[in-house]
Amino acid sequence: MTQFCTILNFEIMHKNITIDIKQAIQQLQAGNLVAFPTETVYGLGADATNEEAIRKVFAAKGRPADHPLIVHLASAEQISDWAINIPDVTWILAQHFWPGPLTLLLPKHPNVSPLITGGQDTIALRIPQHPVALQLLKEFGKGMVGPSANKYGFVSPTTAAHVAADLGEKVTCILDGGACDIGLESTILNLTADPITIMRQGAITGDQISTVLKTPISSTNGSNIRVSGSHASHYAPLTPVYVLPMGAIAPKVEEVIKNGQNCSVISFKTKPEHLPDAIYWQQIVEDPVSYAHDLYSNLRMHDQLENSAILIEQVPNGSEWVAISDRLQRAGVKS
Ligand code: TXA
Ligand code: MG
Repeated sequence: MTQFCTILNFEIMHKNITIDIKQAIQQLQAGNLVAFPTETVYGLGADATNEEAIRKVFAAKGRPADHPLIVHLASAEQISDWAINIPDVTWILAQHFWPGPLTLLLPKHPNVSPLITGGQDTIALRIPQHPVALQLLKEFGKGMVGPSANKYGFVSPTTAAHVAADLGEKVTCILDGGACDIGLESTILNLTADPITIMRQGAITGDQISTVLKTPISSTNGSNIRVSGSHASHYAPLTPVYVLPMGAIAPKVEEVIKNGQNCSVISFKTKPEHLPDAIYWQQIVEDPVSYAHDLYSNLRMHDQLENSAILIEQVPNGSEWVAISDRLQRAGVKS
């Protein structure tokens, strides 16, 4: 009953939010944009064989044309429609990690529109794990481009309401599949590089991939390739974010207050007693799974406070924190 009411309320607030997959498919077939849930973040879907629809994706996001899109598939059998010279490791990885939060970069099939790949000769492919996304892809039957459903450079959406807030009427329909399980974008693995290289950190770690392929995996910041998510200022709220060691947070808060401004804090610890109550201090659990799940919602919530800064305590080292640390660095102010 509660869930039913929530959905009804959403529908009243945002008339383009729906749970009707058939309606979403009709919109995709008509060349319109459909936001869809995945296990990572919400995607902005369009028919990957329709250039007009692909152009609408770039326009809705305000994304530069040279930043390529991931194509989402329903089954690994479709890979050969989108890629050529497919290395054997592709099938091993697909078997182990798909459906799931891993995107594979492969040599592009000549039939694939260069609009998708931003003129590059590689194509990024993934099968998402969310049941709604899988059903949508299966019934649609074609590949679907799906960048994160946010304005270019901003924080990715992890709920249908986030998508509505960012893109509103620019998207014809928003399929509501609840809050995304993982909360961070997929790991991107470049299979065209030698050695195979992680281009974007995500829930699937280099260690997991290494174990499956029985070979070391390197990682890069992707500085030689046009990967929008690898740019310094990305995944960023409008409010400046400072990622600091615990010991530097209280002095920074005091500095902000001295300047007659306010800030909010995300920390694993409790608020030091000498800091004023006016500081919104969010204490969170030191668990990478729940941290990732809530990160983008938390950033959006702190952004809405419209303070002069968001201060975030540095996260621990360790492979399970790597993707989180990467997103925090990109959200943060560069000094
Ligand atoms: O989890 C995800 O991957 C989500 C969900 C919706 O699937 N999608 C997502 O897409 O994060 P997007 O476009 O926001 O991020 C994909 C990244 C971008 O930085 C893009 O530039 C890069 O992948 N990318 C896509 N195709 C590429 C290519 N051919 N070569 C290099 N980078 C590519
Ligand atoms: Mg994105």
